[in-house]
Amino acid sequence: MSFLFVFFIKMSIILSGGFMADYLDLTKGYQKEELKDAALTIKQGGLVLFPTETVYGIGADGLNEEAVKKIFIAKGRASDNPLILHVSDMKMIERIVAEVTPLERKLVEKFFPGPLTIVFKRKGNVPNVVTANLDTVGVRMPENKIAHDLIELANTPIAAPSANISGRPSGTNVQDIFNELNDKVNYILDGGETKIGLESTVIRVIDNKINILRPGKITYDDLKEFGEVVVSPHVLKEASSDEVVLSPGMKYKHYAPKTKCVLIYSDDKKKMLDKMKELETNNTLVITNEDNVKYFNNVISYGKSLEDISHNLFKILRSIDKENKELVIIEGVKAEGLGLAIMNRLIRACSHNYIEL
Ligand code: TXA
Ligand code: MG
Repeated sequence: MSFLFVFFIKMSIILSGGFMADYLDLTKGYQKEELKDAALTIKQGGLVLFPTETVYGIGADGLNEEAVKKIFIAKGRASDNPLILHVSDMKMIERIVAEVTPLERKLVEKFFPGPLTIVFKRKGNVPNVVTANLDTVGVRMPENKIAHDLIELANTPIAAPSANISGRPSGTNVQDIFNELNDKVNYILDGGETKIGLESTVIRVIDNKINILRPGKITYDDLKEFGEVVVSPHVLKEASSDEVVLSPGMKYKHYAPKTKCVLIYSDDKKKMLDKMKELETNNTLVITNEDNVKYFNNVISYGKSLEDISHNLFKILRSIDKENKELVIIEGVKAEGLGLAIMNRLIRACSHNYIEL
């Protein structure tokens, strides 16, 4: 962690008269005991901001209804959008899940711990506020060591949505979300930049078919080895307000900067770049692959590989409004593999303002 950021936090704490979250810098390594206070905060019904391998989460004791309600207030989140419960081992899954089918068990064995959320039939002890009254519960076992140790020490499933005010891009480092959330949580665990940068893949098995409700790092091809995979139609298309969606989160506005954005994609690279050039003015910002930076004037690179783009995307989306431009032109990627998750987030960030050529 940069010296300047830690200094900034210490000054903020002094200036606020101490009415701020406790902050722990874990970026240079830590002993598990150091997380005891944060785990106690969870046990006592408080909120802890913590890293996972995907994005940061705002965590609370997932079996404590009053604690979970605080998450919805902190984020300004709609109460019909359910939360994921984060677990540290199989025993914890059994505490909250009514049934694990043979196919679900295979998926757990292969992908847990990791960036996959499985929507299971839930047990009655999971508060309705977590599941938005659904009879299912989303469960994930994070691979990130800080997340794992926190859940294990708290000895309870931790309910945690992405760390952001609802509608904003998810936080992938503490600096980006500090001002947004520091007065809304009790404790901040700083684990540096998250590895993946996009939220987990969310799936639900129905009639032995694996439905992708939200794409992520675990891709269609990764899942295909285990059976038929169906991509929810709302992954790339807008859900109308009266449509029934398998994942309530798909209905909501996400990631959108205030500045108007347009997403452009074509399999024909020349066509795509020509269209982007056509829209470029001296009042636009272009966000593009590193290879294409040379074609534009006011431009930010989102990296080269799909992994780079996934890692950098939310940080870049958060920086757009600071540029004070009239329009942002974003280069799309092929909606395949990790590219499907990237396009799912970009289409929403551009409020479905998408030109496919
Ligand atoms: O990577 C992630 O999943 C991060 C980190 C912190 O683990 N969490 C995250 O949570 O992205 P959130 O709340 O921002 O997104 C959870 C998504 C929402 O779209 C929600 O509607 C869906 O998962 N979801 C949760 N429980 C569900 C359920 N029982 N049935 C269907 N969808 C569910
Ligand atoms: Mg979220």
